[in-house]
Amino acid sequence: MVSALTVLFIELPAPGPSISVSPSGVIVPRAAVTIRCQCRCEARRLFLYKDGIQIQELDAAGDGGEFTIPSARREDAGFYHCRSRSRSEPEPEPEPEPHDYLRIVVAEPSYPKPTISLSPSRGVALGRNVTIRCECRCQKATFLMYKLGNPDVRHWAETAGGVAEFTIHNVSRRHTGSYSCQYGPKSDPSIWSHPSDPMELMVAVERLAVGVSQSHNTFQ
Ligand SMILES: *[C@@H]1O[C@H](CO)[C@@H](O)[C@H](O)[C@H]1NC(C)=O
Ligand SMILES: *[C@@H]1O[C@H](CO)[C@@H](O)[C@H](O)[C@H]1NC(C)=O
Repeated sequence: MVSALTVLFIELPAPGPSISVSPSGVIVPRAAVTIRCQCRCEARRLFLYKDGIQIQELDAAGDGGEFTIPSARREDAGFYHCRSRSRSEPEPEPEPEPHDYLRIVVAEPSYPKPTISLSPSRGVALGRNVTIRCECRCQKATFLMYKLGNPDVRHWAETAGGVAEFTIHNVSRRHTGSYSCQYGPKSDPSIWSHPSDPMELMVAVERLAVGVSQSHNTFQ
């Protein structure tokens, strides 16, 4: 199932192992997520819990251990935390409170995908501006627009209506690629729609034409 994943931290003072995730923030659908438990475990055993249930013993080398979800799905949503215990303890100690929790939130299937479009629609020349437009049949939405396969390119916008516009100024070749967007209700940041169909942004080199006005753009 195609779904997107939001990763949030709930920061609380933690006596036990700490937990972190990579990449942080919203990640693209089916992306790999690595959860890391950090501790001075030494000879102690290290466990990862999801929604209060122990799901995995981590190989605790040095200062912690890692668990990778190779392709994140809705079912991976939940609250994660790490615990350690000594090798001589057969049973977990009583829950030390509070924990350092990690919350993973996934897309809501009842939110239909938004549409995505480009202006100008057929492509853009180097150095020009291009606007990516995301539209939902909804009101008061938070939109997320991102580049597929590049978790560093993510933009958010809050709208009163159902349209968000993201303008890329001074387009260069690195902007070439596929883009997608998602939305969720402003009132509940844990919900994300299914992603839009991917949209390809093509960047063309403007033809040099001596004597022709610089402002003439064959893509307009
Ligand atoms: C791109 O956008 C910037 C900022 O809005 C503007 O100053 C500039 O003139 C635009 N460039 C083109 C080629 O339209
Ligand atoms: C546009 O980007 C290029 C590099 O990609 C840079 O050399 C140039 O100065 C930029 N122009 C503006 C107006 O920011």
